Amino acid sequence: MDIILTGDRPTGRLHLGHYVGSLKRRAEMQNSGKYNDIYIMIADAQALTDNADNINKVRNNISEVALDYLACGLDPAKSTIFIQSQIPELFELSAYYMNLVTVSRLQRNPTVKNEIHMRGFKQSIPVGFFTYPISQAADITAFKANIVPVGEDQLPMLEQTREIVRSFNTLYKEVLVEPQAVLPDNSVCSRLPGLDGAAKMSKSLGNCIYLADSSNDIKKKVQSMFTDQTHLHVEDPGHTENNPVFIYLDAFCKDEHFAAFLPTYQNLDEMKAHYQRGGLGDGTVKKFLNEILQAELKPIRERRELFAQDIGAVFKMLHDGSQKAEAVAAQTLHDVKSAMGIDYFK
Ligand code: TRP
Repeated sequence: MDIILTGDRPTGRLHLGHYVGSLKRRAEMQNSGKYNDIYIMIADAQALTDNADNINKVRNNISEVALDYLACGLDPAKSTIFIQSQIPELFELSAYYMNLVTVSRLQRNPTVKNEIHMRGFKQSIPVGFFTYPISQAADITAFKANIVPVGEDQLPMLEQTREIVRSFNTLYKEVLVEPQAVLPDNSVCSRLPGLDGAAKMSKSLGNCIYLADSSNDIKKKVQSMFTDQTHLHVEDPGHTENNPVFIYLDAFCKDEHFAAFLPTYQNLDEMKAHYQRGGLGDGTVKKFLNEILQAELKPIRERRELFAQDIGAVFKMLHDGSQKAEAVAAQTLHDVKSAMGIDYFK
């Protein structure tokens, strides 16, 4: 029995980092037909843990994220797509799991530590934010998911979830399932840098290519990308490592792309060797990357535009998905309460 659960915070449209890090893989897993159930969650409640004063940002991005999902080929006939806040059972599960985790354990979570630092919370950390790894354990265990496809920043959440599962199953009864993270197989895809070479694509840094970007936006953004700062003249030897343009090629380029757009080379190794020797200009490399991204993103953008014509249907899909998800979470909550012996009126 293989059950997948994963999700995204609706704080903005999804971008290329989400696409290579997770969305693309999800659609492939969905279409492989190998999994019994697939749950894809729009984590609005988690997004609210640091956006209590910005409800509209989260509200408005629910349909944006849903459109990004549909555009990437997630199919509601095969995957249950739902909204976290509509499943009250998740919050009840979190409440019981909170008793199994210590404050110091949460303080050690490296991803949360980094987010607290990045958001400048200092001593003013919202309690909900601090405890979101516990609520994430509820998201995963409510569906008895054993497979969680995510980027590497989510590994600490998976570790926390496994600890909660082990404590619960030992203290009460074996009802929860220990999940496994599944990272992208290509390690560059796990953390795509921003256009400016920053460690991550992120909306707040303004260094993203969005799935909804127009063809012209993509072209302009690729032209603006950072490359090797020491590669001043075409004839100069260049560096391909830590060079965002080559990192993107590592993530997206296939040998077929050379035949289609740049037949001077057979494959990326040949192109890299030329750049390293000198004599290959950044303009040519960017032009090639632009062709690849245009080809990859065009069908996604077109599907997105099609689905965007009927937002009512998108919400109907989310409503149906949420009802289906709630029935499953209710069963788990029932199992959890009876394992704990707090099913007094049975
Ligand atoms: N923390 C994830 C993110 O920031 C979103 C998320 C919430 C999630 N619950 C989850 C991911 C459960 C996987 C499983 O993108």
